[in-house]
Amino acid sequence: MTPQQTPSPATSHLLPTYTRVHLAFERGEGAWLIATDGEHYLDFSSGVAVNALGHGHPRLLAALEEQAHKVWHVSNLYEIPEAERVAVRLCENSFADVVFFCNSGAEAMECAIKMTRKYHSANGAPERYRVITFEGAFHGRTLATLAAGGQRKYLDGFGPAVEGFDQVPFCDLDAVKRAIGSETAAILIEPIMGEGGVRVVAPSFLKALRELCDRHGLLLVLDEVQTGMGRTGELFAHQRTGIAPDIIAIAKALGGGFPVGACLATSAAAKGMTAGTHGSTFGGNPLAMSVANAVLDVMLAPGFLDHVRRISLLLKQRLAEIKDRHSSVIAEVRGDGLLIGLRVLVPAGSLVDALRAEKMLTVAAGDNVVRLLPPLIVGEAEIAEAIARLDRACARLSDVAPNPRSPASEGGKINEALPAPARGKDPRRQEAAG
Ligand SMILES: Cc1ncc(COP(=O)(O)O)c(C=O)c1O
Repeated sequence: MTPQQTPSPATSHLLPTYTRVHLAFERGEGAWLIATDGEHYLDFSSGVAVNALGHGHPRLLAALEEQAHKVWHVSNLYEIPEAERVAVRLCENSFADVVFFCNSGAEAMECAIKMTRKYHSANGAPERYRVITFEGAFHGRTLATLAAGGQRKYLDGFGPAVEGFDQVPFCDLDAVKRAIGSETAAILIEPIMGEGGVRVVAPSFLKALRELCDRHGLLLVLDEVQTGMGRTGELFAHQRTGIAPDIIAIAKALGGGFPVGACLATSAAAKGMTAGTHGSTFGGNPLAMSVANAVLDVMLAPGFLDHVRRISLLLKQRLAEIKDRHSSVIAEVRGDGLLIGLRVLVPAGSLVDALRAEKMLTVAAGDNVVRLLPPLIVGEAEIAEAIARLDRACARLSDVAPNPRSPASEGGKINEALPAPARGKDPRRQEAAG
């Protein structure tokens, strides 16, 4: 088998926990991915909000290459100057005083959850360990983060769920108030529920949670794994609301594709996390930190976040037009910045498939939503291209599936009815910020 060929699911030696599309890429350039067969795909999924600076960003490449020639890994037995620098810059640009580095979103969330428990324990109240979370949330796939998300489909068969999470309906303030008890340690929420269907939490709700936390001595924890690092036009999504959390978890965009996660906290919230209480072999290693510093170089440069705000407004306007033109397919455009959800009236997977047939990559979410997560460097020409492809995909779906409730619209029926995708037109990246 050559590197260009991939085995069928039946012969693959990878644990079959994913339903993968039979498609592989050999390189990427900006907002474009080039498949092993040479086809160019417009990447509006960014590896699920990871490749925030697109593919092959010269600054990231240079940082990785330079560090690769120096030292890759030393362990946290020693000082890591690159990690100190990322931590300083994250703190200077946020509410936080301290940072713990790890390798993924779930690990960042684990650190956040442990920190809430340790905080109360250090305050002499170890019985306060419970965290209030919201229905439909997604916080990762470790046992604790699965319990925090509370989704049956992910918990089933894995034994008793980790104790200590109280779920309430999404954005139901009265339910939050009722759930607060003598054992409550914290409230945990995503500022925009990503996997749960791009459901935006109103700033007023976050403010109300902050007030409740202050009144009851709870910590406010935000999961910014998906919303963090520029995606909403602020470095962190909560910064558009004016509230300051006690702890946040970030990952995805921080490494622009290099695996890294981080838990940011005030020194007050982190008071229990003393030497030996937590750790990670790889967390904050020189390679990851050099790339994260390069990501910050780009994101903190004047004009970068302005670009995200401006281009996301343009995308939203164009999507509103598409929604009006294809009202039998798209019911709602929602989200913030470049974390956008299309709630659709056909099965979400059928629009993802139809867009892939148009050589455009998107990703489905809960609540029958298709997520658009372009890289933050996306330009106007690519927005125009995305809109044209979406227009064609919706036109096909409205031709073949006018009634979303008909049984024929379930499963793969719509895909089978799709004509072959348009070929030969592969406009490349023409415009990019940062
Ligand atoms: C909001 C949120 N939290 C946590 C995670 C888990 O991150 P990871 O898959 O890197 O462990 C994700 C992943 O999609 C996420 O979207």
